[in-house]
Order: sequence, then structure tokens, then C-alpha cells
Amino acid sequence: MDDRNGWDQDTTRSTGTTHSPPQSFVEQANVSDPGIYEAFEENRPACWERAADLLSWDDEYETVLEDEDPPFYRWFPDGRLNAAYNCLDRHLEAGRKNHAAIRWEGKQGERRTYTYRDLYVEVNEFAAALRELGVEEDDVVTVYLPMIPELPIAMLACARIGAPHSVVFAGLSADALATRMEAADSEYLVTCDGYYRRGDAFNQKSKADNARIGLEQNVQTVVVDRLGDDLPHVLGEDEWDYHELRDEFASETVEPVSREAEDMLFLMYTSGTTGEPKGVVHATGGYLAHVAWTSHAVLDVKPADTYWCAADIGWITGHSYIVYGPLTLGTTTVMYEGTPDYPDRDRLWEIVDRNAVDIFYTAPTAIRAFMKWGSEYPDQHDLSSLRLLGTVGEPISPRPWNWYRDTVGGGDCPVVDTWWQTETGAVAISTLPGIDDMKPGSAGPALPGIDVQIVDQAGDEVAPGEAGYLTITRPWPGMARTLYDTDEQFVAEYWRRFSDPDTGEWRYFSGDTARIDEDGYITVLGRVDDVITVSGHRLGTMEIESAIADVDGIAEAAVVGRSNETGDTEVYAYVSTERNRDANAAVRRAIFENIESAIGSIARPEAVVFTPELPKTRSGKIMRRLLEDVANGEELGDTSALRNPEIVGEIQAEIEADGGGRRS
Ligand code: PRX
Repeated sequence: MDDRNGWDQDTTRSTGTTHSPPQSFVEQANVSDPGIYEAFEENRPACWERAADLLSWDDEYETVLEDEDPPFYRWFPDGRLNAAYNCLDRHLEAGRKNHAAIRWEGKQGERRTYTYRDLYVEVNEFAAALRELGVEEDDVVTVYLPMIPELPIAMLACARIGAPHSVVFAGLSADALATRMEAADSEYLVTCDGYYRRGDAFNQKSKADNARIGLEQNVQTVVVDRLGDDLPHVLGEDEWDYHELRDEFASETVEPVSREAEDMLFLMYTSGTTGEPKGVVHATGGYLAHVAWTSHAVLDVKPADTYWCAADIGWITGHSYIVYGPLTLGTTTVMYEGTPDYPDRDRLWEIVDRNAVDIFYTAPTAIRAFMKWGSEYPDQHDLSSLRLLGTVGEPISPRPWNWYRDTVGGGDCPVVDTWWQTETGAVAISTLPGIDDMKPGSAGPALPGIDVQIVDQAGDEVAPGEAGYLTITRPWPGMARTLYDTDEQFVAEYWRRFSDPDTGEWRYFSGDTARIDEDGYITVLGRVDDVITVSGHRLGTMEIESAIADVDGIAEAAVVGRSNETGDTEVYAYVSTERNRDANAAVRRAIFENIESAIGSIARPEAVVFTPELPKTRSGKIMRRLLEDVANGEELGDTSALRNPEIVGEIQAEIEADGGGRRS
């Protein structure tokens, strides 16, 4: 099989040097007993009580796992709890009310610290306001906010009253917001007037307004005034000012609603193989137990730490490891609104230095950028407070891994390369930093209690070193419960391919390919489906293609990922126009505009290559793999099976003539 997908090819991974965790780390680690693997193995599913025990339950669960109706597994089904209570109230009760919960660093250099009590007060006030607006238990509240404190506050307020939140990444377009609100039948929206982009005021509310116009349902909308006089706005019908609501409900408290463990905590839309985003459903108890456990065991979070996950809460990483994991454990979580290079390229290191950050968690794409900018930026700051580094979201090859460890971590910080997905809810593969040796370029073994198998097409395990499909053979607490409103698609997308319901063998398919070595260390290679990751954003190529195909005069489009010099993936589009239609600058502009309005500027192609036809098999299937090879300048295999093999040379010539079909 082709194991190149998403792979930056700079090494023979997993065979390189290994590093042991430093003794000083092991001595203080939350989890340092190697017996934990066996303890989990021998005691399933009860081993997961260890995760559930990190939570406070209103009603203790009796059953750990109910597996009568696979793949619809139920974790701790007879237990009851509230996620906001776990993130807030219990820390107050433990006498930690003045401990910092969130340290927020704004784009304009603003800073705000919320103690656990501050957060508790504001979450309660907003929960009371949401109730007053009509939000009832199980109503889906959509949150469309940038990285400002009101975002986690809104999430926790929803959790407090048992209303699932659906956070939509603030950079997505009005259409994307409308699609998600419509799919979830959501009648409540929390958004803001706008936010700063490189110092300029950017209007978010107009996107929200446009989304609402197209919706059938009435939407009660709360607007956070982020920009003040920099972007005045007026409120219309069904619109409420966040700060006025808070004043109105000042000091009100709301009893946390006791939720069944299996009740939905939130919905998170993500890209998949179809044009429509999928609403991944996460349940309260299992999800919270798994994120708390992995924050404890993998990220080694302790209440006294200052912990920073530099992701966006608009995606799953931020949900699990900026909000729910760290707050459940009662630590201080840093929340950063800006970008790594504004006002200068040392911005993140300045924040680490000033806050004495203990644990730092980011994505390979960021690490590659830091490496490219050079060590002079981290070198300007004292980073000695760092105890552990983490990475997530894409494969990381040894060179950036080593750079990260040496330059940011001073050579003695363990690095955890954590593999997981929106659908797994929390980390599933990673070294345990207090136990395992690290192999740069390999995520590590499956976590205790998680059963990963790398299999071939037939579902048989492949030999060590061979590429195969990454599957998980037994359920785990943080797993997605279903896709919103469509159990059938849930089974079709993740389970059907490698399960055999007749024998009762159910196996989750991640959509990734990977290799496993003799020690059980897993090297993730990339996706097999039509999903690409661009700067940490998971995008469906089908969604981009359909936005292009909507442009007047376009016949067909194929979108692939191209790896640039830095190793980052870029969107690369091949487009054929209808007969007699010119492929001119206006068409190119229209393509960009359509993509920005359908999805957002994150999906804007780096290059658009016009071609009279797309290469197709005799049965009419577009040969995306071949187009990916062309985009990446790879050697092409045999093209004789194509219906139109001559087109490949034409496309290559076009790219050559057009300087690679670049934007400008
Ligand atoms: O392809 C894998 C890649 O990111 C995908 C999941 O994307 P998303 O649901 O957006 O969640 C991202 C953050 C959890 C996976 O299917 N991926 C994630 N972590 C890694 C990774 N690929 C290689 N190594 C990782 N550590």
C-alpha cells in the first residue's frame, strides 16, 4: 500500500535514537509505574475506573461498560455527573477558589486572569442568562467565538445546564456556520462583534448575521463586545449583549444539572469523506474521564502547574486539552488568542517565560515554523520552567522533534507525540512520559487499555515495519458515541470496513495508515481518506471541491494536499472549465471567493492549476493519487490504465509554464 500520504519523508523514522525520560521527570511523574500496562490489560474494562475516579460523580456508576449493542457502547451508564461542576465547583469546595484557572493572553497584548472563583461566578451568571433566553436541557447551543475567555465560559455555562454546545471555529465562514446550525437544529448562538487580525478589527458579527438569514429557525443570539469602539455594532431582534446579560444576572447561581454519563456533552463538527461535515457526538462521563486521565497520565498535569496548549478551542484539541482536561484537574490553563509571530516571532517564548509555563503542547506545523525561524527566538527567553513538551495533529519527523526537545526543551524535557482524533475524544497513542522511552518520529505505544492494531485490507495484522490501517479493537471511554442524527453514517464511516458483526467482532477504523515496530511503537503515516490537514485545520477535499464546482463555468475540480519545503501541507487544486469558458484571473478570483464563503480562508488553495480535463480511470474515477504525485513532484507510476493518459503531460507542462499554479 501507499504509505506516503501526509509523510514528510525526511527520515526512516522509528529506527533512530531513543531517549529515556530523565530521572528527575520520572520521580515527579503522575504515572511512573511500568506495571500500568499490565494492570490495564488484565482488568478490563474495570481498569478505566482509574480514569473515572479522577471525577466527582453525583451518583456513582455501578457498570463500567455496557457493550450489548456495539458499536453503540455506553460508559459508566448508570453514573451521573456534571462537567461544569467537575471543572469549577469542586475546586472551590477544596479551598482552591483563588487559584488561577485561566490565564488569557489577548492579541493586543491584553491579559486577564480568572481564578476558579471568577470563572465559577461568570459561568453561573451566563448559565442563568442562557436559561432566561429559553435554553433547556439538551438544546444545542452554537458558540462562534475566537479565543477569548467568553468561549470556555459559554461552554461551561452550557455544560452546567445540560445543554450540549457546538463550537464552530471562528475562522469558518457564514455558510459553514449556517450548515452546522441547521444540521444541529440549533436555536441559540453565542458570538461576538469581531476580533483583531494582525491589529485590524475584523467583523465576526456580519458573518453570524449572514448565517442566520439563511436559517429557518429563529436564533436567540448573544453578542460579546470584544472590540468596543474599534468596531461599533448594533443589536437587532433576538440579539442580546453578553455584558448586559451578565449585569442582569449578576451573582446569580445555577445548580449544576446532574447528567447521565451517556448524555451528550457536546457536538463537534469535523470534516470527513463526504461533502457534509459530520457532527461528532461526545458523551459526558466517558469523555470527561478520558480527557482527565490523559491530561494526568500523558500530559502530567498537576494542579500547581501552569499548563499551555497552544491550540484553538474551535477544534477538538482545545476542547479536550485547553478546557475540559486541565480544568477538571484544577490546574492553570493558558489561553492565547494570537498567532506565534505577532508582534514578533518570539511571542510564544515570551509568554512561556513570563508565565513560567511548565507544560507546553502544540502542533508539528508550528514546530516546523519555529525551526525555520531559528533558535534565536527561543534563545531570547528563559524557558527553564518547561518540564514536558507535547505535539499533536500530524506526524512529526525526527528533525523537528529533536529541535523541539533541544531548543525549546533545553535537551532534557520529555516530548510526547500524541495521536488522537476528534472521534477518539482524547489521546489514544503516546508514550507515557514517566515510563516509556521516546523514539523521535514515532508516537509511541497505544495507551494502557487502548487496543490498536495495524491491519491489511483483509483486517489481518501486518508484520512489524509494514504499513497498514490504524484500527482500534476495543471500546474506550472518550470515543464518539455517534454522528448527530445519523447512527447509520456512524457505523458506515468508522465501523463497517473492518468489523464482522456476525462474529461480534467490532473494530474502529481511524482513516489513518501507520506502521508498528517490534516494541509496539506506532508511527502514523497519514490519512487514507480525502482529508487533509492544513495548519492544524482538518479539511475535507470534497468540501473544497464542491465550493469550486459551484463557480459558474467550472466543470470539475480535484483537490489534493501538497507538501511544501517546510513539510506543511497546502491545498492544491486542479480545475477544468466548461467548454468555451476561459480559465482567467476572474475565474481564479471567483474560486477563492467561493471557498472563502463556503468554508473560510483557511481552505484557500495555494495553487490552482487549470486543465482541460482531469485524469480519470476507465470507469470515470478521478485519479486523485496521481494528481497528488504531480503536485508533489513525485515520480509517476504507470498511467496507461487511464482513459486520458495524455492529460498528465499537459498538466505538468501547465504547472511548469505557470510557475506551479501559485496564487499570485
Ligand atoms: O491523521 C491523524 C492526525 O490528525 C487526524 C485527526 O484530526 P482531528 O480530528 O482534527 O484531530 C486533531 C487533533 C487530535 C488523525 O486522524 N493526527 C493527529 N495526531 C497525530 C496525527 N498524525 C500523526 N501523529 C499524531 N500525533
